[in-house]
Amino acid sequence: MLANIVYIALGLLSVDSAFATGPSAVNLGTAAGFTILAEAGISTVPPSAITGNIGVSPIAAIALTGFSLTADPSGTFSTSNQVVGKVFAASYTSPTPSQLTTAVSDMSTAFTDATGRVNPNFTNLNDGEIGLLTLTPGLYKWTGGVTAATGFTISGLVTDTWIFQIAGTLTLSAAVQATLSGGALAKNIIWVVSGSVDLGAGSHLEGVVLAKTAITAQTGTSVNGRLLSQTNVALQVATIVA
Ligand SMILES: *[C@@H]1O[C@H](CO)[C@@H](O)[C@H](O)[C@H]1NC(C)=O
Repeated sequence: MLANIVYIALGLLSVDSAFATGPSAVNLGTAAGFTILAEAGISTVPPSAITGNIGVSPIAAIALTGFSLTADPSGTFSTSNQVVGKVFAASYTSPTPSQLTTAVSDMSTAFTDATGRVNPNFTNLNDGEIGLLTLTPGLYKWTGGVTAATGFTISGLVTDTWIFQIAGTLTLSAAVQATLSGGALAKNIIWVVSGSVDLGAGSHLEGVVLAKTAITAQTGTSVNGRLLSQTNVALQVATIVA
């Protein structure tokens, strides 16, 4: 009986992976140790709620605003009542600066990898308006911006992957909700955005955002994933969970 259950479970696992679809994973390297990583600054209008570490580099700690930081005696990190995790900046004590340099480099490598993937399964799908769509696994490419005026669904198995390449901006209208179905996981969803990212008030996004420029999470936004920006991340009473 037990043997049968194990056999069936193994069978399901192998079926699962055999049918996994979508592009190969994007390696975030040590950037995966951060819920938010930004090169030019992170601001918050309190109270935001972040689960996981955040960091800025090469900019110094002065570019962390609104966090009411408390320095750890070690000097290598600080804490904030808005962050369940550690807060890092390039101006902190060694080894933090070199670790951040590596994480930022890994973030840049991940952006280049994700944005460089070729042979998309979908090109300029629905002219960039993804509201009401169900997005199955694959590589998606938009040569302009992407908007969601209404909610959308990302549907696939736990092993499936998505890369959304967006050459323009990514804009979620207020209250728009991204929903996962079928077992899809936020860690397998990459939004690689060359323009700015604007998450409207009360909106919800799932996935890892690799942004070339700024990410703004307006009042009441929530994100299940990571915000990794080559410039700034601005939070307004936002909830970000890795
Ligand atoms: C996406 O495109 C790749 C490369 O052309 C192909 O191997 C794969 O089967 C496609 N996936 C889907 C879900 O259509």
